[in-house]
Amino acid sequence: MTHPDTLPDQVARICAAHAGREGPLLPILHDVQASFGHVPAGAVPVIAEALNLTRAEVHGVMSFYHDFRDAPAGRHVVKICRSEACQAVGADASIAAAEAALGVPMGGTTADGAVTLEPVYCLGLCACGPAALVDGEVVGRVDAARAEAIVKGLRA
Ligand code: FES
Repeated sequence: MTHPDTLPDQVARICAAHAGREGPLLPILHDVQASFGHVPAGAVPVIAEALNLTRAEVHGVMSFYHDFRDAPAGRHVVKICRSEACQAVGADASIAAAEAALGVPMGGTTADGAVTLEPVYCLGLCACGPAALVDGEVVGRVDAARAEAIVKGLRA
């Protein structure tokens, strides 16, 4: 009888695929997130053990790089740039407008699972800030009114 392929089994296989390579943690985290849509809590101890790291070290890397999420994302993902050039032209107001329209803080997902709001740090669109990434598409000049319209549109 074969036993079901458990989450730790799948994560262990991803870790094994990167064995021996230099700096395996980031590629492993990317592959885990690609497989599960996020990095599940149960993956962290498996990764830590495979790489001889503490769980805190794995968590530390996950929170340092803003690419990784520890919970599934909503159906739509809106990332608003928090880097300097966008901040100088009002990104904070855009973020506040999006948060208010969705009723969730940065990093949150609406209760209906429609939209996840996340920060991003420079999209290479600094001349057209505030910049955002809406379901993978770069959008410029996302002022507060536009931020509100975008997230409301995604929920409609
Ligand atoms: S600082 Fe926002 S796109 Fe570069």
